[in-house]
Amino acid sequence: MAVDLLLGLQWGDEGKGKIVDVLTSNYNIIARFQGGPNAGHTLVFNGMKHVLHTIPSGIFHEDAVNLVGNGVVIDPVIFKNELDKLATQNVDYRKSLVISRKAHLILPTHRLLDAASEASKGKAKIGSTLKGIGPTYMDKTGRNGIRVGDLELDNWKDKYRALANKHESMVNFYNVDLEYNLEELETEFFEAVDVLKSLKFIDSEEYLHQALRDQKSILAEGAQGSLLDIDFGTYPFVTSSNTTAAGACTGLGIAPTSIGEVFGIFKAYTTRVGSGPFPTELFDEDGETMGRVGQEFGATTGRSRRCGWLDLVALRYACQVNGVTQLMMMKADVLSGFKSLKVCTAYKYKGEIIQHFPYNVEVENITPIYTDFEGWAEDLTEMDNESTLPKSLNAYIDFLEKELEIPIKVVSVGPDRKQTIFR
Ligand code: GDP
Ligand code: IMO
Ligand code: MG
Repeated sequence: MAVDLLLGLQWGDEGKGKIVDVLTSNYNIIARFQGGPNAGHTLVFNGMKHVLHTIPSGIFHEDAVNLVGNGVVIDPVIFKNELDKLATQNVDYRKSLVISRKAHLILPTHRLLDAASEASKGKAKIGSTLKGIGPTYMDKTGRNGIRVGDLELDNWKDKYRALANKHESMVNFYNVDLEYNLEELETEFFEAVDVLKSLKFIDSEEYLHQALRDQKSILAEGAQGSLLDIDFGTYPFVTSSNTTAAGACTGLGIAPTSIGEVFGIFKAYTTRVGSGPFPTELFDEDGETMGRVGQEFGATTGRSRRCGWLDLVALRYACQVNGVTQLMMMKADVLSGFKSLKVCTAYKYKGEIIQHFPYNVEVENITPIYTDFEGWAEDLTEMDNESTLPKSLNAYIDFLEKELEIPIKVVSVGPDRKQTIFR
């Protein structure tokens, strides 16, 4: 068997949580491979909405194993909150949730460092979710991190203390105004660590290799999106992990030759939360409509998401970097009622027409070149069959498939599990 991947192709929040939940019935194992509680993955079914941050989006399916891979960074406090919410929904997570010993831990002082770093940058701030993601991955690559497996050692608290003390002096070095009570934060942290320790820690790469030998099916769930990738995103306005396909190999210990389908998921328009370039961003009524109808507020921070037209230059780039084999288009329903729509097919970049995503995506040098489309008035949210989709939506889809040379296999017409049309 192969490992299928599901990845966001834009700046995150494409609807990964919803689709992983929809697809879970086809898989034995759902595995998160990078990111951490900066992610907010929303699932809607039976009239209830659930937001997951670190726990894979297959957790509501009894038969699936949900694996938190080595590439993920875990904040025990946020993880415990997620578990508490699941318990109120009667989800038996003890049976189905396993955690890699090699996953790194986010300490309270990592969060403080994130806040201090952002405060020191002033206007140039990344717009981080302030969950401590950057500092935790820095400690990982700096070879200072504390891993889940360390919690099984007797002396892990000594290691913790030394690292937290170092972080405190680093926070002071930033010389910014930051109020905090470390003692309180640590009490909460140690309580949460005890809960984490009651779960099943595994050597996850070995577990997955055995699962593949046993013909088990595996879906790897990405977090963030390709344009937030540490290497291929709009650096420095990115997250600190590889959100693209290669991240699934390093974040789970699977070989490239084990990868099967690569599902690339995108919104029918574009959003971004936090700072950084966004060539097709709208500052007019159309953008405002997308935000209002699409309820574009961050699932983790509640911040408004910036909205704009679909950017095929960026999307093509993301498809290439990931080797996407099937596309899934989300939130088509949000575009109902627009008289006309635009899709960016090229950039005018420093006087030249280019079709590739350039090194510097500085907005002042880029003018998007658009193709116009007729809109559709029909409400899509009750539609459950490809044959009922409006003609102009089909024209929009056909155009994207031709340009990207990849089939669009799913059109999502609402947040609910059921509002999913397979083509
Ligand atoms: P993720 O981070 O990729 O899992 O996406 P988020 O959950 O952060 O953001 C996607 C938002 O859009 C959530 O509020 C979803 O409930 C919602 N959503 C997902 N698919 C659709 C869709 O097809 N139509 C509409 N209207 N909302 C959707
Ligand atoms: P999901 O998985 C959208 C953005 C932040 C910020 C930048 C760096 O829900 O799609 P970080 O906290 O990672 O250091 O922030 O990345 N960001 C996301 N934007 N969706 C996400 O995750 C994101 N995770 C991080 O807003 O601009
Ligand atoms: Mg999200």
